[in-house]
Amino acid sequence: MLKPTIQINADERAPAPPVGVAVVGLGYWGPNLLRVLGDNLDAEVRWICDLDPERLGKYRRRHPGARVTTKIDRVLDDPSVDAVIIATPVHTHFDLAARALEAGKHVFVEKPLAHSSELADELVDIAAARERIVMCGHTFLYSPPVRAIKRMISEGKLGDIYFISSSRVNLGLHQRDVSVIWDLGPHDFSILLYWLSEMPTSVRAIGRDSIVKGIPDVAFVTMTFASGIIANVELSWLAPSKLRRTVLVGSERMAIYDDGAPEPVRLFDQGVVYRDPETFGEYHLSYRSGDVVSPKIETYEPLGLELADFVGAIRAEEKMEYHTAIARSVVRLVDAADQSLREGGREIAVKQDLSQSQFAAARGLAVQ
Ligand SMILES: NC(=O)c1ccc[n+]([C@@H]2O[C@H](COP(=O)([O-])OP(=O)(O)OC[C@H]3O[C@@H](n4cnc5c(N)ncnc54)[C@H](O)[C@@H]3O)[C@@H](O)[C@H]2O)c1
Repeated sequence: MLKPTIQINADERAPAPPVGVAVVGLGYWGPNLLRVLGDNLDAEVRWICDLDPERLGKYRRRHPGARVTTKIDRVLDDPSVDAVIIATPVHTHFDLAARALEAGKHVFVEKPLAHSSELADELVDIAAARERIVMCGHTFLYSPPVRAIKRMISEGKLGDIYFISSSRVNLGLHQRDVSVIWDLGPHDFSILLYWLSEMPTSVRAIGRDSIVKGIPDVAFVTMTFASGIIANVELSWLAPSKLRRTVLVGSERMAIYDDGAPEPVRLFDQGVVYRDPETFGEYHLSYRSGDVVSPKIETYEPLGLELADFVGAIRAEEKMEYHTAIARSVVRLVDAADQSLREGGREIAVKQDLSQSQFAAARGLAVQ
C-alpha cells in the first residue's frame, strides 16, 4: 500500500537550528564581533577563545552560554561549531584559518586575509578543497555611504572617473607586527575594488618608519588602472586629527565621502568643460558650478550586516566567490605596496589573474 504523502506547510517546518560559532581573539576588535553576533538570531556563540585568560574572564560573564578556552584545538574538536570567527593579529590569520578550515569549519577572518599573497591563495585553495566558506572582514563593503557611492558610480552619475584620492589618518593605533599599509590599506583597497570592479595594474608606495624602526607608520600609495583611472591613498597612524575622506573626480560630477561626518556623502555637480578649439591652440575651458546634493544615507551597523551575510551564506550553502576575489586582491595590493615601499617607491606590476567576472558583486553587495 502506498503511504500517503505528508505535505508540510512552510510555516509548520521546524526553524533551522542556529549556526554554531566560535570567536577567536578578544582584543580591540573581537568584542565588536561578539556583540553583533549576540544580536543575530541565526547564530549562537558556542566558544570564546583567547590566549589571555583575563580577557576570557571578562567576556565569560557577558556571554554565559558560551564556553571559554585559551586553546583553539578545543574549539576545532567541537562538532557543534560550524564556523570560526578570527580577530587575532595579522600574522596569526593564516595558521588559525587554515586549521579551522582543515577541521571542516567555515571561516570568517578579519582583514587582511593573510600576511602574503601566497598564503592567501593557499587559504582559498584549502577552503575550496574542503567546500567551506572563507570570508574576510572587509567591513567597509557593508557601509551605507560606501554603498551609496557604488550606486552613484553604477548609475553613471559621476561619468568617467578620472581619479580618486583618499586619506585615512589618525593618531594611533600603532600595530606591533605590521606596517600601516597592512593595517589600514585593506580598508581603502577593498573599497576601491568594490567601487571600480577593476584591479590596478601597478602600485607605487613611499613611506617611513617615523617612530618604531622597521614598522612604517605613514605611507602614500599610488595605483594605476587599465581604464586610465589613478588613485592615491594616504595612510598614517601619525596625524593630529582623525580623517577618513575620499574624493572622487569624474567627467560628470565629483563626490566626497567623509566617513563619520553628519553628511557622509556629497555629490557636486561641478567640473570643467573643454571646448574643442576652432582654430589651432585656442581651446576654451568653462567651469561648471551646479548643485551640491547630500543624499539620504541609510543607517545600520555594517558589521552586523556583514556577519549576517556570512551566517546567511552558511545556512543557504552558498559560496562567497566575490568576497574571496576581493580578499585575495586586497592582499595582492598590500603585498605590492609593501614591496614598493621597501624598494624606495619602485613601480610594482600587479598580477592580473582574477577574472573580471569575479568582480561582479554578489550576495549582499549587489547594487539594487
Ligand atoms: N574591520 C575593522 O574595521 C577592524 C578594525 C580593527 C581591527 N581589525 C582587525 O582585527 C584583528 C585583530 O586586531 P586587534 O586590533 O583587535 O588586535 P589586538 O592585538 O587588540 O587583539 C588580538 C587578540 O588576539 C589574541 N590572540 C593572539 N593570538 C591568538 C591565538 N593564537 N589564539 C587565540 N587568541 C589569540 C590576543 O590575546 C588578543 O586578545 C586584526 O586582523 C585587525 O586587522 C579590523
